[in-house]
Amino acid sequence: MTEAHFIPQPYTKTLENGSVSWQSPSNIALVKYWGKYGEQLPKNASISFTLSNCHTKTTLSFEKATSTEDFQFEVYLDGKKEEGFEPKIQKFFERIERYVPFLKDYKFKIETSNSFPHSSGIASSASGMSALALCLLSIEKQLASEEISKEFFNKKASFLARLGSGSACRSIKGPLIVWGKHADIEGSSNLFGTKYPFEVHDNFKNYQDTILLVDKGEKQVSSTIGHNLMHDHPFSEQRFQQANDNLSKLIPVLKEGNISKFIKIIESEALSLHAMMMTSMPYFILMKPNTLEIINRIWNFRKETKSNVCFTLDAGANVHVLYPEAEKETVSTFIEAELKPFCKNGEYIHDQTGNGSTTL
Ligand code: DP6
Repeated sequence: MTEAHFIPQPYTKTLENGSVSWQSPSNIALVKYWGKYGEQLPKNASISFTLSNCHTKTTLSFEKATSTEDFQFEVYLDGKKEEGFEPKIQKFFERIERYVPFLKDYKFKIETSNSFPHSSGIASSASGMSALALCLLSIEKQLASEEISKEFFNKKASFLARLGSGSACRSIKGPLIVWGKHADIEGSSNLFGTKYPFEVHDNFKNYQDTILLVDKGEKQVSSTIGHNLMHDHPFSEQRFQQANDNLSKLIPVLKEGNISKFIKIIESEALSLHAMMMTSMPYFILMKPNTLEIINRIWNFRKETKSNVCFTLDAGANVHVLYPEAEKETVSTFIEAELKPFCKNGEYIHDQTGNGSTTL
């Protein structure tokens, strides 16, 4: 499939006004996307667990616009007008206009809310952009001349979400989504996320993710800047190769249920991602002292108890603690007793893998 497949036939139906709503989750990458080219295309393939408790709910209301020169929209977060979100959405609309050519015909009201605290440091771009992309597709479905299949709907939603934020394309479905062309994974694409097509052992079903909120402030360096620093990075080519190799290695691991090998790949991915940040020019560090304290405590706990708990990181200081459902009780007790003191205000969020977005 190419980009051209997502340009619709002229619409034949008309709509004066209406409203659509979607709920879409966040996701946590196991093999990380860090480095992109062209229009939001990844330099390597990535794979993530779709989450369930951390999600965004978005209602998109629309009415016919009086003028069709510019995009017209307003954004509300938890009922309060958020002008700070407007530039990102303006850019998103510019990027996707070819694919959803009704955007200038309507005046939009975007009402959004997150299940996780705003400023928790949890990326809301994946859940937020995927929820908005799904709302737009729901409108297109009502305008389109032909029936849009479920499969195409999800593909195009993921395609649009990617143009808003790369990782957002992995939030439409779940529980394991691949994004980026990979030789070992048929059907994988740089344009959209696809469901991981191979067998997954029961050990990885309902995998748990407790997100420890280490630093709730605004990130010092945005993901977009970080991705761009991979262009002239001395280790970029090796890194893209490493990520693709790690995805290949994960395939038998997921099938066999081999958690100890899983841990090695996942933790190495997290630290390699942060190593890229530390070796960029300019260099930066997003981990905080408490991030390292938590990692060390997880390693000690694993050594002492033979637990299968491990960690991963996204582009920030928060730690995602990953563990099998069978260890839910013991690991929760460990987190409460030993890791909570290193969280800002003792805050953390229990989550687990989920099946993706739902219409409301
Ligand atoms: C470290 O998807 O936030 O979380 O495409 O610029 O919006 P943009 O970047 P974004 O980058 C996410 C990077 C990551 C790894 C990952 O989720 O794969």
